[in-house]
Amino acid sequence: MNTPAFSLILFGGTGDLTMRKLLPALYQSYVDGGFQPSSRIFCAARSDFTDESYHVWMDENVKGHIKDRFDDAQWGSFLGHVSYLCLDANNTDSYIPLKEALEQNNNERVFYLATAPSIFEAICTGLAHHGLNKDARIVVEKPLGHDLQSCQEINDVIGQAFEENQIYRIDHYLGKESVQNLMALRFGNSFFEPIWHRDRIANVQITISEELGIEKRGDFYDETGAIRDMVQNHLLQLLCIVAMEPPASMDANAIRDAKLGVLRSLKPMSPDDVLNNVVRGQYTAGTVGGKEVPAYVGEEGIKKGSTTETYVALKAEINNWRFAGVPFYLRTGKRMPKRMAEIVVQFKSVPYELLGKMPVGSNRLVIQLQPEESVRMYFLSKRPGNQMRLAPVHLDMDAEDFFSERRMDGYERLLLDAIHGQLGLFVRRDEQEQAWRWIEPIINTWTDQNVAPKMYMAGTWGPPAANALVARDGFNWHEEL
Ligand code: BG6
Repeated sequence: MNTPAFSLILFGGTGDLTMRKLLPALYQSYVDGGFQPSSRIFCAARSDFTDESYHVWMDENVKGHIKDRFDDAQWGSFLGHVSYLCLDANNTDSYIPLKEALEQNNNERVFYLATAPSIFEAICTGLAHHGLNKDARIVVEKPLGHDLQSCQEINDVIGQAFEENQIYRIDHYLGKESVQNLMALRFGNSFFEPIWHRDRIANVQITISEELGIEKRGDFYDETGAIRDMVQNHLLQLLCIVAMEPPASMDANAIRDAKLGVLRSLKPMSPDDVLNNVVRGQYTAGTVGGKEVPAYVGEEGIKKGSTTETYVALKAEINNWRFAGVPFYLRTGKRMPKRMAEIVVQFKSVPYELLGKMPVGSNRLVIQLQPEESVRMYFLSKRPGNQMRLAPVHLDMDAEDFFSERRMDGYERLLLDAIHGQLGLFVRRDEQEQAWRWIEPIINTWTDQNVAPKMYMAGTWGPPAANALVARDGFNWHEEL
């Protein structure tokens, strides 16, 4: 796919996201196919850089985040497409150089707000003041708000300058190759669909675990916590893709309608549900990957005695025809034993135990999204010998064995989609607000009832209460089977 000529404006041009993710992703796209000669990346921020000194800054801060295919010559020509704009978001005059630069061609215009939401209003007002919102696209990063109301306020602000079909709300999980493959698996094969419902599925487990702690983001994280940072967006989006009805087409709105259907069917949580079905955790000091790491409360930027959660496990229920009564267990945590994102579909046991007692969960489909991309089907097989003894075995599909192509990073794909005007992998306003509507009672109950996090040692799979959550229903987390 040839990338059309574009002008991409990165607000937050000296920020962490631009440095670690956006510019490295753009470099990879450049290596893949080059850019049209007039394509430009404008990095906008308040600091006083020239193009030359910004390029030096990129050498020092961006290069190190390019994980593969680094080449000095390619990097040099990539830099030729990158300019710096010194811009004070609150001062409408400071948008004039941007306007002049954009008016030099008819490139696709994409504004990427990699800044705190507190300046979204100023930026949208500044762009609209100069008519730069016309025929343009705007990409916005999470977190969009800390609750439903603040999310609606931000959406209103953006909505004053941009129509919904110009707004690209990023959830980088949707850009991952493996998440795309989840749709291929479900809707490109005939044998999953007939068993993809309450009659055959006992439970679904979705895990995103990280070895990392909170790195240098203590101030942000302490205000946010795992429920807002991971569950409201990434985990609920994965849940939607696992549980949605086949969309009417691959059209962006058809897919988003199907996801919205799942979010609307999530059973609302009462305070009692929150107390019984949600585990809130925080890590204490421990060992991860052979290294000793401090407790969350000992990390830089964390308030003394902070009760912010670094771990959440919960049981969600979907009140619809397909999944009524099937528990969906979601969990995520920092400082876990390994980095992994995985979806486990546990099927029901055989209806009659002709061959003796079968262990629960012996039929499982395990879709690993990262670090490796794989699909494993676990089932029972006869152990050789003169007795009918069964043992668990698995059929494996490791994507690397089949496909040698390079995997695009989520940001790479999503930036290209925004440039191409493809909205399918971006979150629509109603989806995002519905996700907050469901999450909010959890946060409110924690606040109203002073629910303190349960402690887990760094390097373990979370508080024991998370095991009890699934054990109560007669199940186990996948890694314990
Ligand atoms: C981000 C969160 O959205 O996702 C981070 O803010 C988290 O806290 C990251 O580390 C995880 O993404 P990935 O792609 O590394 O699994």
